[in-house]
Amino acid sequence: MATVSLTPAKKAARSTVALKALMAVTGLIMLGYLIAHMYGNLKVFSGRASFDNYAHHLRDIGEPVLPHTGLLWIIRVVLLVSVILHAYAAIALWRRARVARGGTKRYVSPKARRGVQRSYASFTMRWGGVIIALFVIYHLLHLTANVIAPGGAAGSPYQRVVNGFQIWWVVLSYTIAMIAVGLHLRHGTWSALTTLGANTSAAARRRINALAYVVAAVITIGFLLPPFGILLGLVK
Ligand code: HEM
Repeated sequence: MATVSLTPAKKAARSTVALKALMAVTGLIMLGYLIAHMYGNLKVFSGRASFDNYAHHLRDIGEPVLPHTGLLWIIRVVLLVSVILHAYAAIALWRRARVARGGTKRYVSPKARRGVQRSYASFTMRWGGVIIALFVIYHLLHLTANVIAPGGAAGSPYQRVVNGFQIWWVVLSYTIAMIAVGLHLRHGTWSALTTLGANTSAAARRRINALAYVVAAVITIGFLLPPFGILLGLVK
């Protein structure tokens, strides 16, 4: 049987550390997008003109240096590449963990409070990731393409959001997805910062842990404010 010999550079690029670093960097890129997206969504509380202007300006930022929607397309491509690399690294790392000595049994520890050395959020990373990916498809069909149009289709992004979130099950579906996002970010932020070398002492560990909770809470609550604001009649 022929064997493939890899150059040291190729070996390093496929190492577990490199895959973890790839997950961390792509995860942080997507986190940056989520913070901006969440902040932009809050404009719904400033009314139709403000929200629709914002949606419109997203398409002409950078003109005339960039073509119309140029920056938006750059962001879309960066996000798509990040999602693909993040999923690739997750699957490759999962396969390695499965065949590693002891498999997932190596996390069992009588010293840990729950019998295993892992938090609830870390257990839910894989399924959480799948739920978020399915949510993004549903979400794009809903608010970007308006193919799924609960409450009625509309040309105005503001109207699409308001039409959809007057319906309880739409709010419920987004709430479930945002809880999955929150859990994913709680563990993911911690994990990414640790991989990138921020976890250097007990004090640093406490800071990273606190930061991960703050990031997860701000994103989850920030994203849920518009749907609940609309459902409760606070957005006119
Ligand atoms: C309650 C939560 C959310 C609301 C109300 C919301 C709202 C919106 C709206 C109105 C658009 C269309 C913007 C436009 O066409 O001008 C949009 C697009 C998008 N959203 Fe969200 N979003 C939410 C959560 C999320 C989350 C958690 C993610 C990612 C995990 C996400 C990813 C995206 C993406 C990738 C686009 C497409 C951007 C583009 O290429 O044009 N959204 N969202």
